[in-house]
Amino acid sequence: MGGRAGFFEVEILDWKTKKQLCFLDKVESNATIREIRLMFHKLYPQWYPARQSIRLDPKGKSLRDEEILQHLPVGTTATLYFKDLGPQIGWTMVFLIEYTGPLFIYFLFYFRMPFVYGLDERFTSSPHPVVNLACICHSFHYIKRLIETIFVHRFSHGTMPLRNIVKNCLYYWGFAAWLAYYINHPLYTPPSYGKKQINFAVIMFLLCEAGNFSIHVALSDLRRDGSRTRKIPYPTKNPFTWLFFFVSCPNYTYEVGTWISFTIMTQCVPVGLFTLLCFIQMTIWAKDKHYTYLREFKDYPSLRMPIIPFLL
Ligand SMILES: NC(=O)c1ccc[n+]([C@@H]2O[C@H](COP(=O)([O-])OP(=O)(O)OC[C@H]3O[C@@H](n4cnc5c(N)ncnc54)[C@H](OP(=O)(O)O)[C@@H]3O)[C@@H](O)[C@H]2O)c1
Repeated sequence: MGGRAGFFEVEILDWKTKKQLCFLDKVESNATIREIRLMFHKLYPQWYPARQSIRLDPKGKSLRDEEILQHLPVGTTATLYFKDLGPQIGWTMVFLIEYTGPLFIYFLFYFRMPFVYGLDERFTSSPHPVVNLACICHSFHYIKRLIETIFVHRFSHGTMPLRNIVKNCLYYWGFAAWLAYYINHPLYTPPSYGKKQINFAVIMFLLCEAGNFSIHVALSDLRRDGSRTRKIPYPTKNPFTWLFFFVSCPNYTYEVGTWISFTIMTQCVPVGLFTLLCFIQMTIWAKDKHYTYLREFKDYPSLRMPIIPFLL
């Protein structure tokens, strides 16, 4: 459809009621969706661009900001649909709220605040060194995520719906409290194989954290030019990134490894259940990303699996 010149007429309808919300006359054929969002915003100041989902199909996917009108499968009168995504919050802020919660919630249990395990246990500490180690690892994990959010990640979306943050916080904060309750409990029993098991778990934990960080840096480097598109990530000189030879989302593989090591370190059933849940969630996302790569890139490396080399 490329190469068409001149002007388009654009009508924007409500995605549900199909009522016409606006009619834009003489829109340049090379106008982007971003520009159309801005025109719509001028008419409806309450719907700032990040709140708008502009689609070709009422129930389809949102068009991306950089898509160009004349490259869309529309006639010279284009019909687009609008959905209000609700109030938005910036991604960086979302992650800061999500990750600061677990960090502080864990300390409430670690320091055994008065209302947690009863008054007799308040401000006491566990006799097991692994409990201190677990607190250090847990804090390290979330501090690392906060640092990555501020200094490493280059997100493509500016915002997400405000209502999602409640759901995400319930997940992260709720699980942090659940895990911390058991690990710091006065009746907690340390791992069966003692120091050997703990040392093995700490080494595995640190390697997975280093791997996860390396992948995040490699992904961020793909956008060093300031672009917001998704490219094919490849292994770099850093050996931790060589997992890209075998999987599409090695950051998820390493993240699962981190939680498996935390489970081995604490030998605690709730930690194991949380790990399983993380694994299921990240597998779903990894598959989704993997198939998107396959769809978008004809030359996508064929050896790669979504999350587990040669398996899944
Ligand atoms: N414990 C859990 O249940 C859990 C669940 C999810 C995540 N996490 C942790 O949080 C981390 C981040 O999660 P995520 O889901 O945001 O990871 P992600 O989708 O892999 O994205 C990480 C960053 O890299 C960018 N990116 C991804 N693929 C890219 C590509 N092909 N080209 C250029 N940039 C690309 C993303 O930008 P975009 O803005 O374009 O996406 C984002 O800024 C994970 O690695 C994991 O450590 C934990």
